[in-house]
Amino acid sequence: MASSLTIKTILTLSLWALLISHGLSLTCTSQTFTNNKLYTHCLDLPTLTSYLHFTYDESNTTLSIAFIATPSKSNGWIAWAINPTGTGMAGAQSLVAYKDPSTAAMTVKTYNISSYSSVVQSKLDFEVWDLRGEEMSDGSMMILGKVKVPEELAAKGTVNQIWQVGPGVGTGGMLEKHAFLTSNLDAKGTLDLKSGESGGASSGGGSRAKKKNIHGILNTVSWGILLPFGAIIARYLRTFEAADPAWFYLHAICQFSGYVVGVTGWGTGLKLGSESKGVQYTGHRNIGIALFCLATVQIFALFIRPKKDHKFRSYWNIYHHGLGYAILILGILNVFKGFDILMPEKKWKSAYIIVIGSLAVIAVLLEAITWIIIFKRKSSNSTKPYDGYNNNNGSNRQQPVAI
Ligand SMILES: *[C@@H]1O[C@H](CO)[C@@H](O)[C@H](O)[C@H]1NC(C)=O
Ligand SMILES: *[C@@H]1O[C@H](CO)[C@@H](O)[C@H](O)[C@H]1NC(C)=O
Repeated sequence: MASSLTIKTILTLSLWALLISHGLSLTCTSQTFTNNKLYTHCLDLPTLTSYLHFTYDESNTTLSIAFIATPSKSNGWIAWAINPTGTGMAGAQSLVAYKDPSTAAMTVKTYNISSYSSVVQSKLDFEVWDLRGEEMSDGSMMILGKVKVPEELAAKGTVNQIWQVGPGVGTGGMLEKHAFLTSNLDAKGTLDLKSGESGGASSGGGSRAKKKNIHGILNTVSWGILLPFGAIIARYLRTFEAADPAWFYLHAICQFSGYVVGVTGWGTGLKLGSESKGVQYTGHRNIGIALFCLATVQIFALFIRPKKDHKFRSYWNIYHHGLGYAILILGILNVFKGFDILMPEKKWKSAYIIVIGSLAVIAVLLEAITWIIIFKRKSSNSTKPYDGYNNNNGSNRQQPVAI
């Protein structure tokens, strides 16, 4: 029974790992276009899961683009812009796509954003044509169009690009404000028209995005999955006499590898934090530091564990379980906080919810099974007086430790 559930969990986990590795290799190169149009370059932009395909014709400084992103809400907007005068939003010559609220048809409009307070539809400082919007079945949108790159920018060979996604559109194309998470604020960089490379906001945007993904995966797998899984093993497997002492080794392996992977992920988080000037995620960071401390204490507590029949063993158990549950709760909480910060594609958060949800369902089922087994054992031992906690031969194997 327990082993079939364990196998099921392991299968779920490996399926998830498969999803991750698949997702990491998913890049703009696998995207295709309805009209078989080909662009010479494609870029996985460093934030907001956005992609830019483009072809630049140097002879007449014409830039042909296809920009793909997913609005932050289903009736939202996506935007791509060149900023000839700065790096931020003020001055951005923007192409914005959304579903027209009155006709429900995809439309692309231009916005000459003179300041943060004035985002209204207007002509751009340079010529744009062939503008078209498309909505894909996965909820993402695409802006297609051609831009006449002004002489001064064409001479430099690079332009400042900026992109964004927002939640909704009001009457007359009034764009609702986008979120102000790092992923939104970092959505800018340089675009090298000739070599087709992009620079992130703070140099090396691509590698930073990669680091963030690694940070997210390491921590989700360790704090978010391995540790809860190991806790389930410890709490439920030991009810089954046949699983003794295997459960202990499985538990120890799970928690120890969870700790090692988790501390590595924690290190990448500290590095990311020290590199991110300006924006701080104090909550996520503090929980991370607390987790590291609690988990380290937990690991070292193993070495001072009293023997099974020692009078202090029950205190040690309470402490070990209490700390363990605190680590689980904080760990899962921080994984979700991390999802909100990194904002990966929705499917990653959904995949994690499915995994952690299945673990929860398995735990509830095992909890019920454990109590049934305990009551059965108790009734078959009913000739012996019930000692209020444990019932026979000094073993605490049957009793899940209630915290
Ligand atoms: C620029 O040149 C390309 C091909 O050389 C052509 O398709 C495009 O229409 C030209 N654009 C302008 C604005 O002349
Ligand atoms: C775009 O906005 C700037 C600043 O308000 C203004 O100077 C410029 O003339 C505008 N361009 C067009 C084409 O309206």
